[in-house]
Amino acid sequence: MQSDKDLYRQLRLLSREDLWQREVPAFDRASPRERMQRVAVIRAVGVAFAASGTAEQQAEVRAWLTRLLQDPSEKIRRYAMAALPKLGAGAREEKELLNLLQPATGPREKKFLGRALEKIGGAATLAAVAQTPGLLPQTEQKVKASLARADSPSVIRLDRVFSPPRGLRIHLRCRKGLETLVRDEVREYIAKHGKFRLLEFRGRCVALAPIAPFSLGDLFSLRCFDTLAFGLGVVRAARPAEAVEPLAAVIASPLTRQLLAAFTEGSLRYRLEYVGKGHQRGAVQLVTNRAYALCPDILNDARQAPWSIDLHAIRHGASVELRPRLTPDPRLDYRTDDVWAASHPPLAACMARLANPTKDEIVWDPFCGSGTELIETAMRGGVKSVHGTDLDPAALAIARANFAAAKLAAVSAQFICGDFRDFASVAGLGPQSVTLIITNPPMGRRVRVPNLYGLIGDLFTAAASALKPGGRLVFVNPVRLDPKDPSLQLQSRHVVDLGGFDCQLEKYLKLAP
Ligand SMILES: C[S@@+](CC[C@H](N)C(=O)[O-])C[C@H]1O[C@@H](n2cnc3c(N)ncnc32)[C@H](O)[C@@H]1O
Repeated sequence: MQSDKDLYRQLRLLSREDLWQREVPAFDRASPRERMQRVAVIRAVGVAFAASGTAEQQAEVRAWLTRLLQDPSEKIRRYAMAALPKLGAGAREEKELLNLLQPATGPREKKFLGRALEKIGGAATLAAVAQTPGLLPQTEQKVKASLARADSPSVIRLDRVFSPPRGLRIHLRCRKGLETLVRDEVREYIAKHGKFRLLEFRGRCVALAPIAPFSLGDLFSLRCFDTLAFGLGVVRAARPAEAVEPLAAVIASPLTRQLLAAFTEGSLRYRLEYVGKGHQRGAVQLVTNRAYALCPDILNDARQAPWSIDLHAIRHGASVELRPRLTPDPRLDYRTDDVWAASHPPLAACMARLANPTKDEIVWDPFCGSGTELIETAMRGGVKSVHGTDLDPAALAIARANFAAAKLAAVSAQFICGDFRDFASVAGLGPQSVTLIITNPPMGRRVRVPNLYGLIGDLFTAAASALKPGGRLVFVNPVRLDPKDPSLQLQSRHVVDLGGFDCQLEKYLKLAP
């Protein structure tokens, strides 16, 4: 006999019409025994119509599934329960599900009912859950979270000023190779504004301690880090099972509550993430159930949670960190759109810091794409004009829109379609015309390049010609190639992670002839 899974796979190959007009009537007409053998029809119909059915079709499917909730077979009822939430089920379906939640309902059916109600339940479910023993421990928390989400979508406030408790740590994480640039930006901030003390920097992380009231806005005025998180504590355990209680205690701790309450407007919801370890559904469930039991005001919620509690593996344990999930990143409000091969913005900010524009800089990005490097450089000040060239007219249109959105009106900008090698034909560009070249060239991965060494060689040649003496070339070099022209002198080289592969972030100085 065919397994439910095999039949499901076969049914998923059918069109929605075939499923609805042939398979469903055949299922409805079948004998109880045949229906049990073809229960996969329910799953296939639920998935097919959830993915691409019209609202009208989904309503018809919902009505069919709701009828199946009354089926004498528990298995058919369970399949219908699992399919319903995918189809935009609401209060009517919630009522039908709650009617099935009787003291006599078996434990397996209760489990499925709980799962369906977690997804579609509201206040009625919450009231029923409190009086129904035997539901999964997470059902109440999940229903509360979805009600909270619907009631008041939470917002992280950048402007709230927080008086830190002693010993609070802030971790600024970045890609490998950029730590010193992140650290230098922090040092510069501290020299100007105080508020924080630099603790340490190592392994893609710069740690600081607040020493005065601060806001998230203060921290997000720094542009070079990738993510920011508050250290909640370190949990060490010999076995994963032994970590559940201490992790839950950290999540439910007064420090977590204090931070969440200080910076959140709306419900206090978080996701739990085992960084670099995949979903870890079982462990997440155990820890978040226990944390909820300790502190029911903080809700675990996989959907649209404003915060993430991240577990970073360390020796024999985990560093537990609270990270605001700000999307879009408030530092990137100039990004009207981006391109497939757009630069990682914190890398562009680090490059701009390395370039260090001083006064009246004339800046060229030969491969400007959506303009990230030019914008990050102009934002630092000291820039008179920026020139972007690229082969892709669509990317240039985005660069123009992004530059306008960045409100850098004092900086003149032009974005020209063409090969960078033809720079001398672009107005304003030519031999000894620019003081800074900053660029993230094609790496031969997302943007295919027939001869990458040739392209980088040509970039060195163009830079040696276009730069004024004293000018700088800052770029990410994807290959091990030095300039042939001796007038370009290497100033610094950092090996950086470009998202799974290493390149060199290099800075050259153009010497006088
Ligand atoms: C890595 S992307 C640059 C991304 C850009 N920094 C951004 O943030 O959007 C490289 C760009 O080089 C452009 N390109 C490739 N070959 C080129 C050439 N010979 N001359 C000018 N542009 C070129 C591609 O169209 C692409 O937009």
